Amino acid sequence: MTHIIELQHVWKRYDTGGEVVEALKDVDFYADPGEFVSVMGPSGSGKSTMLNVLGLLDTPTEGTVLLDGKDVTDLTDQEMTTQRKQFIGFIFQSFHLIPTLSALENVEVPTLFGEDPTARERATDLLERVGLGDRLHYRPDQLSGGQKQRVAVARALVNEPRILLADEPTGNLDRKTGRSVLDLFDEIRREDDVAVIAVTHDPQLGEYADRTVQLVDGRIQ
Ligand SMILES: Nc1ncnc2c1ncn2[C@@H]1O[C@H](COP(=O)(O)OP(=O)(O)OP(=O)(O)O)[C@@H](O)[C@H]1O
Ligand SMILES: [Mg+2]
Repeated sequence: MTHIIELQHVWKRYDTGGEVVEALKDVDFYADPGEFVSVMGPSGSGKSTMLNVLGLLDTPTEGTVLLDGKDVTDLTDQEMTTQRKQFIGFIFQSFHLIPTLSALENVEVPTLFGEDPTARERATDLLERVGLGDRLHYRPDQLSGGQKQRVAVARALVNEPRILLADEPTGNLDRKTGRSVLDLFDEIRREDDVAVIAVTHDPQLGEYADRTVQLVDGRIQ
């Protein structure tokens, strides 16, 4: 089976004018369709950096990124955006919702340039699945932290991605709400064969994962 996403010998160096930080050191990583992989590690160990490279939001300093078996390391920004839209849903560590838009409009944002007539239906359905059917027209400042998190989850799924990347998806949620988000992840990976890769400190999330990868000081252990 072709891995849906793979990193081969990935290094990421940040040059902050004088001091070079090595955020990722020779990282090899993959995920298969339908697999749930959790990434754990201390603060500053490179988890968000790795997720950004997997999400084609950042490019490695050295090494190769393969998406569905194709080398995407040297694509142009525009080609990366196309691939990202087609393959990847991203849930950020902070939610990145647009404050002036309603929950429903926020979920529709990734579809806006596609002129897809079923987008509103999918957005509504996803908000119902995350338990926000009665909050469709609320703005982010009218939602609780956990509700904003769930809007971000729905938005990440609206283009039916093959890979879902999540940075601390349950970090702001109580145990019960966290579990409902994890149940939703479990459902989409089983029913839609989506690969879920989640960065976390949450032991509850670890229980849902097929496999846990430890990152320490930029290296996979
Ligand atoms: N844009 C940047 N410029 C310079 N250094 C950076 C940059 N982004 C991250 N780093 C450094 O790279 C290292 C890894 O950062 P990263 O954000 O990936 O950690 P993390 O594991 O996600 O941490 P946390 O659990 O606190 O979110 C850190 O030492 C950080 O200071
Ligand atoms: Mg982080």
